[in-house]
Amino acid sequence: MPIHIRPDYSLPEREATPEALYLNRREWLAGMIAAGLLPASALATAVEAAAAPLAKLNAKPGPFSTDEEKTPLKAVTTYNNFYEFGTDKGDPAENAHSLRPRPWTLAVEGLVDKPQRFDVDKLIKAMPLEERIYRLRCVEGWSMVIPWVGFPLASLLKAVEPQAGARYVAFTTLHDPRQMPGQKGGVLQWPYREGLRLDEAMHPLTLLAVGLYGRALPNQNGAPIRLVVPWKYGFKSIKSIVSIRLTDKQPATTWSTMAPREYGFYANVNPAVSHPRWSQAKERRIGEFLRRDTLPFNGYGAQVAGLYKGMDLRRFY
Ligand code: MTE
Repeated sequence: MPIHIRPDYSLPEREATPEALYLNRREWLAGMIAAGLLPASALATAVEAAAAPLAKLNAKPGPFSTDEEKTPLKAVTTYNNFYEFGTDKGDPAENAHSLRPRPWTLAVEGLVDKPQRFDVDKLIKAMPLEERIYRLRCVEGWSMVIPWVGFPLASLLKAVEPQAGARYVAFTTLHDPRQMPGQKGGVLQWPYREGLRLDEAMHPLTLLAVGLYGRALPNQNGAPIRLVVPWKYGFKSIKSIVSIRLTDKQPATTWSTMAPREYGFYANVNPAVSHPRWSQAKERRIGEFLRRDTLPFNGYGAQVAGLYKGMDLRRFY
C-alpha cells in the first residue's frame, strides 16, 4: 500500500469493467472464430452480452447504513487497491479482466463441526442479501462511502458450527498467477491473507460482500466474494476469498508479516495512532477537496469499542 502513493485523485476516462470483460472475451472469441469453431457473427452477439451490466442482486436495506453521500460507482471501481493486479490505483480496473469469478468455491473449515465447500452462487442464493452503506477508510488516507450488497459473516460461521476452541478466523485470497498476474512478482507474499478475532468476525457489522451498487461485485473490487470490516483500515477487507479457516491461534496476515512495525493485526481505524510514516488524523473522502477528520473506529465506535475494552490500542495497532 504505501509503495506508490499518488497525491492526486484522477480517474481514467472509461468504464472499466465492461471494457475489460469485453477485451477478455473478444480475444477468446477471435481465437475460436479463427479456428473455425464459431461463426463470425458470434463476435457481435458476444460484444453485446459482455457490455451487459453485472447481475442484479435483490437486497433488502440492512442496518448500520450511513446516510452520507455515496462515492460514485465509477470512482469505487477505478480507484482502488488489489495488488494481485498491480500497485497503482488504476491497475485493478485495467487488469482484473483475467480473473474468472465463476465457478468459484469457498471453503469454510478448521475448528468447526460442519466444514463445507460452498459454490458461491448457491451460497448467494441461500443467504438473505442486505444493502449496507459503509464508510471505507484506507490506511493510505483516502476514504469512500460504498453501498455493499452482502450478508453478515456471522450467518455463514454459525452454519458451520464453530467449535469451543475456535478463537480466530483466517481468510485467504485465490492464489493463481495466471488469473492474478501480480502474483508473478514479489511485491507481497502470496496469497494475500487476513485475519480477525472470532468476536470481530461474529460482529453484526462484519459483512461478506458479493456486490455493490445493487449488482454483483466487479472483478477489481474482489469478485465474487470479499470481506468488509468497516471499522478497520481497508487492507483488512480481503478480496476474492477462497478459504475461511477457524483457528485457535492468531493467524499470520499479509501486511503485518511484510511490515510489522507499520501494520498490526488489529488495524482499527485510529486517528490518535500515527502510521510510522504519516499521521492518520485526517482523510480525503474521494471526490472532496478538503480533508476531513478521521473518526475513531471509522465512526463505528458505538458498535465496536466494547470489543477492545481494557486493551492498549497503541500497542495493539
Ligand atoms: N485484498 C487483496 N486480496 N489484495 C489487495 O491488494 N487491498 C486491500 C483490500 N483488500 C487488497 C485486498 C486494501 S489496501 C484496500 S484499501 C481495500 O481492499 C480496497 O477495497 P476497494 O477496492 O473496495 O476499495
